[in-house]
Amino acid sequence: MARTTLTRTVLAAVSAAALFALGACSSDAGTQTGGGGETGAADDGVITLGFSQVGAESGWRAANTKSIQDTLTAENGFDLKFSDAQQKQENQIQAIRSYITQGVDVIAFSPVVETGWDAVLQEAKTAGIPVILTDRAVDSSDETLYESFIGSDFVLEGETAGKWAVEQYDGEGYKAVELQGTTGAAPAIDRKEGFESAIEGSDIEIIDSQTGNFTRAEGKTVMEGFLNAHDDIDLVFAHNDDMGLGAIEAIEAAGLTPGEDIKIITIDAVKDGMQALADGKINYIVECNPLLGPDLADIAKKVLAGEEVEKRIVVKDEAFDQEAAKEALPTREY
Ligand code: AHR
Repeated sequence: MARTTLTRTVLAAVSAAALFALGACSSDAGTQTGGGGETGAADDGVITLGFSQVGAESGWRAANTKSIQDTLTAENGFDLKFSDAQQKQENQIQAIRSYITQGVDVIAFSPVVETGWDAVLQEAKTAGIPVILTDRAVDSSDETLYESFIGSDFVLEGETAGKWAVEQYDGEGYKAVELQGTTGAAPAIDRKEGFESAIEGSDIEIIDSQTGNFTRAEGKTVMEGFLNAHDDIDLVFAHNDDMGLGAIEAIEAAGLTPGEDIKIITIDAVKDGMQALADGKINYIVECNPLLGPDLADIAKKVLAGEEVEKRIVVKDEAFDQEAAKEALPTREY
């Protein structure tokens, strides 16, 4: 089967002009927010961008960090301030507050969990510093707290995984286990929802579901627990490649053959996952594209120039079976 392409949609647009004006106001209040040149950056034209990353939990995250660091360079007109929150919301809030105090031109972050951001985002807004979300969304009723959200459609990713499972395995009475991402994180919530809605009405049954926190080590530990508790597992749905790769280790240690005795579906399509798919240890992968640096640079420049930006930019993802993985691997970027 050939690779499939998920939709790229560009949704509603909002004007950044109001926030640009806000940035100018807050300068009066003594906070340096940029707005000094045509681009809205400081007088030297350099855009100081504070980025708070989730952590370094997965191959996907490493590729995402590289994309941001490779794009937001001095040559491209950026002074990037980067911090790693080690998967802790309190670290991200601290980093954002520090960027506000430093008076950066723009703040960007990938929220580790969906809720609990309104207060710190309001502080950034009051300081006149625009915020851009990358990769993961926040759950807030106030959409004026951020300029734009750039990232994949996680519900669609889960649905794509579930639809493939139904196409391949419905009618076999499959018992599935689910390795969830970080509890409270948008991709964990949305992928679960998408997968469950896609398998509804089929005879695939999820018999256990726990978080593996998007890491290979925790994916392995949780899978070991599943194997001890159940002797009838047919299918693993892992919310990312790393947890799927950890599950492979646990399955092999239990004397079973991953991809045959127990089928595996994952999300991300990073090189290690794609290699395992090409080797027949994973059966299907839905991509989550981590190369968000160029869109982030573009949106940051536009926001600071007072241009209109899209409120939601949905990144293009694909999906791969074994044949498609073999074809894609030689030129895979991440
Ligand atoms: O938010 C994207 C998810 O976070 C990726 O699927 C996962 O690998 C990462 O840790």
